Amino acid sequence: MNKPWPYPKLVAHRGGGTLAPENTIAAFKLGQELGYLAAEFDVKLSRDGVAMLLHDSTLERTTSGKGDAAKLDWRDLAALDAGAWHSAPFKDERIPRFDEVARLLQSKKTIAHVEIKPSPGREKETGLHVAALAAELWKGAPVAPLLSSFSFEALSSAQVMAPELPRGWLTKQIGELDWTRLEALDATSVHTNHEYLERALIDRLHELGIRVMAYTVNDVARAKDLFAMGVDGMFTDNLREFAQAFPDAVR
Ligand code: G3P
Ligand code: MG
Repeated sequence: MNKPWPYPKLVAHRGGGTLAPENTIAAFKLGQELGYLAAEFDVKLSRDGVAMLLHDSTLERTTSGKGDAAKLDWRDLAALDAGAWHSAPFKDERIPRFDEVARLLQSKKTIAHVEIKPSPGREKETGLHVAALAAELWKGAPVAPLLSSFSFEALSSAQVMAPELPRGWLTKQIGELDWTRLEALDATSVHTNHEYLERALIDRLHELGIRVMAYTVNDVARAKDLFAMGVDGMFTDNLREFAQAFPDAVR
């Protein structure tokens, strides 16, 4: 039987796609202004266990810091610039905490795709902590956040901590999907790189009651093909063009 699926077809990837520095408050605000009712973001832990938004394990690409994020305490991470790398107007954006983002999203009824992105070696701890926080932060909310991860260990730890929250398993190549683990996760959805998607696999997952999300789709023609193949939703960096092409899919 299909699990509940109240999720919009289009999701603003990393908050604001390429229009703003990824995983920042400015990015989420921009996604909301452009009409997106769903946002995806990446969560990991500081050395001292604060859940925060950052895609990479290292700091260089998207912040003014250096080295492994997991080697710094939150106090030091919070002082970094996370916007100047993108463009001058975003200078002084900071790495946000997970709870701060949860509040901002809920204030505008934005639905959350919470990607658990553990630093290497911290899979279990991150899955447990992020799931516990998500359950607390979204308690009583009309739509539950969808927790996802490439890490089986992180997502199965999230399942132990908050079994009531829906889970999406990320796998780059859908042909390499581990069906036994997928079943063990009791997943609501599979999220996969659109380049490897095939209609037969989408159909097979749908027969099992599992939804299929594609990342990261930035070409409108490709998105049309994917919707025609039966994809249930997709993550995009191309927020403006996609909102114009698929106005009903952003909400
Ligand atoms: O959650 C979908 C997508 O964000 C997965 O890939 O590397 O952008 O986190 P990545
Ligand atoms: Mg992600």
